[in-house]
Amino acid sequence: MYPDKVQLSLHCTLRAFAQPCCFMTLFLAPMEGLLDFALRDVLTRIGGIDCCVSEFIRVTDTVLPERAFKRVVPELLHGSRTTAGVPVRAQLLGSDPHCLADNAASLASLGPAGIDLNFGCPAKVVNRHGGGAALLQEPELVYRIVSAVRRAVPAHVPVSAKMRLGFNDDSQAEDCARAIADGGADQLVVHARTKAHGYRPPAYWERIADVRSVVSIPVVANGEIWTVDDARRCRDISGCQDLMLGRGIVADPGLALAILADDPNTLAWSDVLPMLQVFWTLICGPVIPKYRAGRLKQWLNHLRKTYPQAQEAFMQARALTDHREVQALLATWVEQAPERLPAHSISQH
Ligand SMILES: Cc1cc2nc3c(=O)[nH]c(=O)nc-3n(C[C@H](O)[C@H](O)[C@H](O)COP(=O)(O)O)c2cc1C
Repeated sequence: MYPDKVQLSLHCTLRAFAQPCCFMTLFLAPMEGLLDFALRDVLTRIGGIDCCVSEFIRVTDTVLPERAFKRVVPELLHGSRTTAGVPVRAQLLGSDPHCLADNAASLASLGPAGIDLNFGCPAKVVNRHGGGAALLQEPELVYRIVSAVRRAVPAHVPVSAKMRLGFNDDSQAEDCARAIADGGADQLVVHARTKAHGYRPPAYWERIADVRSVVSIPVVANGEIWTVDDARRCRDISGCQDLMLGRGIVADPGLALAILADDPNTLAWSDVLPMLQVFWTLICGPVIPKYRAGRLKQWLNHLRKTYPQAQEAFMQARALTDHREVQALLATWVEQAPERLPAHSISQH
């Protein structure tokens, strides 16, 4: 799972080049079905991300076995860090305070970099069972969940929460944020939309400022950050120093570095291609052959928002389902790619 020093050196050079802004922490968003350990690994090698949150681990009425946590967060086997050394928090999703607390205690024994609680998932099946964004209609229950988990977890393990602005409307956003802070969370991420808004733009960054004003814990802004300019405006409007990046960095893997350098230029396609290959190597371990082609096409589908070359690659791969054919195609792209630019010129292309 943990290859290769060449790629790591790319990560290091790029990171050094970005001259990180010391007043900003960038988080990689949890994205179930998209941003798993393999993509976390690749995106954190590229650099600029300070901390990741895993996809949600769903808790119902039992204490999950250790393997259930490690399947979603294999980084737990490596000090809860990605290959590049970036910490990964594990996210729990559920609605029963006691059961969440018991699972959090068990998870804490595996040494996660933190435990995050999901108060934003819009999936019908989750909401029907009272979990995810549905909890935002019951700030009192939100409070009970956060305080039960905080009590169950040793003080050195950070407990954070991620919320939307509400379920049908945003009228209880401040109450939910207070419930999270009063429950003892160390940090709050706000995805600036309600469940009813889905993923439709815009994100209401000004409402994050309202939420910030009623709590004293650090608040991280999230939603619709696709460019360096979006990041700048989001920070201005929300008043948050720290940002969480989701679809934007999947589409543009150099986005975190670009934000830190305050430079809209991003990585060249010839720098992304080797990362596609690392991604492929990583998924070839745990992902069964029939799903591998789909995983590569899924990332290409996002990358084509940024790179015309990814659009071309996506069209070539679209009809392929056999993992051997996809692997061969990937090899031709890498072979045909122009020599990678020396690292010092990467942001000037
Ligand atoms: C495919 C997908 C899966 C997601 N899975 C999760 C999840 O497991 N936990 C969570 O808290 N948020 C999840 N989210 C929400 C994202 O973390 C993020 O809040 C949202 O995409 C807005 O940020 P963005 O506009 O930068 O993408 C998911 C979003 C998408 C698109």
